[in-house]
Amino acid sequence: MHRRHLLAAATACLAAPAALRAQERTLSLYSSRHYDTDRELYESFTRQTGVRIRLIEANADQLLERIRAEGPNSPADVLITVDAGRLARAQEAGVLQPIRSAVLDSRIPPHLRDPQGHWFGFSVRARVVMYDRALGLPAGLARYEDLARPEFRGMVSTRSSGNIYTIGWAASVLAANGPEATEAWARGVVANLSRPPQGGDTDQIRAVAAGQGRLAISNTYYLGHLARSPRAEDRAIAERMAVLFPNQGDRGTHVNISGAGVVRTAPNREAAVAFLDYLSGPQAQSLFADGNSEYPVVADAQPSAFLRSLGPFRQDPLNAARLAALSPEALRIMQRAGWR
Ligand SMILES: [Fe+2]
Repeated sequence: MHRRHLLAAATACLAAPAALRAQERTLSLYSSRHYDTDRELYESFTRQTGVRIRLIEANADQLLERIRAEGPNSPADVLITVDAGRLARAQEAGVLQPIRSAVLDSRIPPHLRDPQGHWFGFSVRARVVMYDRALGLPAGLARYEDLARPEFRGMVSTRSSGNIYTIGWAASVLAANGPEATEAWARGVVANLSRPPQGGDTDQIRAVAAGQGRLAISNTYYLGHLARSPRAEDRAIAERMAVLFPNQGDRGTHVNISGAGVVRTAPNREAAVAFLDYLSGPQAQSLFADGNSEYPVVADAQPSAFLRSLGPFRQDPLNAARLAALSPEALRIMQRAGWR
């Protein structure tokens, strides 16, 4: 018996370094993305570095909860999710650690990353106004602010104020114009609604295509999804819709990010940083962005043919961290204005 105990102990000692090595070679990604191109993205990283990827997929809130529940022993190395608001929430929950990387600092535009390095944007979506080409853009509409003007009564189709995209968008208006003007704007938008806020971005596009309202507020990639849809009706809708990038004459169109950060308790911190560096490379950028019809964040990666067909646009350079910080106030303002 005694001998067997000794043997077991010896085996355990020998096994430990091997287990450690195996762990070093596997990076755990907790991701709320689920796109076909991601597989290719991860395989290419493994080919380049020898580091395997273990993918845990769930929605953003579930991933956050899981990392917190796992505590200091969490295997999570990298958290990938959409929207600066969600990344900031993860940061506030103490789930992410700040990192510095010369590659990321030089590759990712400053407005698309946390100034302290808790998270970095790896693709961009723009919040735009979509309209039916056949009906054209109503005259006088060029800015988000215009959506509140009385001549656009009954035309605006949008999601509810509690949605994270609506909140980020309103936060960008708040940053530009201050609380009083933003509340007046929100009241004007509510007065111009074609129906009570409901559904997702695609529902706004479908409503406008069906003649309910003229102006759909949507992220760019939802039009990309319709254009790629296997259903001919969806592709027909995508072809009918045109895109206005608002505020091109001033601050630029509001954008938000898909992004990632290194988990505070990451067992493989170095490999995690290497993975983020890799995500900022031109090839990885195209794969990451195309997975969801989004724009790459680096200048040397081209957007997809679909996005190029929408033309170039000027982005609001407001820092994504500032957007997140203004979000609670933006929501309160919309609620005061009666935006459901
Ligand atoms: Fe979305």
